[in-house]
Amino acid sequence: MHRPIGIFDSGIGGTSIWKEIRKKLPFEDTIYLADSKNAPYGTRSEVEILELSKKNTELLLAKDCKLIVVACNTATTNAISYLRKNYSVPFIGIEPAIKPAALQTKTKKVGVLATKGTLSSSLFHSTSRLHAEGIEVIEQEGKGLVELIEEGKENTGETEALLQSYLEPMILAQVDCLVLGCTHYPYLMPLLKKILPEHVQIIDSGEAVARQTKAILEQENLLTTSTKKGEFKFYSNAEVKVLQSFVQEYWTSVDYLDF
Ligand code: SIN
Repeated sequence: MHRPIGIFDSGIGGTSIWKEIRKKLPFEDTIYLADSKNAPYGTRSEVEILELSKKNTELLLAKDCKLIVVACNTATTNAISYLRKNYSVPFIGIEPAIKPAALQTKTKKVGVLATKGTLSSSLFHSTSRLHAEGIEVIEQEGKGLVELIEEGKENTGETEALLQSYLEPMILAQVDCLVLGCTHYPYLMPLLKKILPEHVQIIDSGEAVARQTKAILEQENLLTTSTKKGEFKFYSNAEVKVLQSFVQEYWTSVDYLDF
């Protein structure tokens, strides 16, 4: 019960999920792993993504985590079935939020911005088939965006130009919902809002994942009974300054770890 929740991502993107979990479960301890040395996962093979996901999982289990949040769409879509079958703790994954988008769209046209690894996964395709019947899903690989965000360039002219080139075809196709299929992309929100017409809804999975994490902890009787604010620790295996800038006031909790 008093063991921490483990969270991992290919880098800093999963901190967008960590923030939602912290809001919903303030008394839980958390350990966050940013595998920035190996980012991006999205251009790697399925075998590589699986190996990296196993490495991160085993490190979190060695730190006695009671539940693991795979705060990375690419790792979820390529590795979560294996992780669930082979390790005994519960896993929460992040799937592109196709279902809420399909329910909300009026133009019946939905854009999905995600990595190549997510868009080519069988989990992504089965989710789209299941939830987006009769909806045109316009997929776009966000090539290069994760690298720019990992370099701390999430609000630069270079990133804006690249993002504009990815969103333009969706705007022309009249999408009215954009699904952010990568946990790094919520950090592009100021640029997304600048580029997209006002009526386009931007859908990300952070809040839903935090809700699901709470539900599973309750169901498994793993919720902490502590009433004092949980402790948290962030580890990066690359330059820690970038991760520190994404967690802002919590920067003193960030350390380098070779993993
Ligand atoms: C990546 O590492 O390429 C992106 C992570 C994600 O899919 O959330």
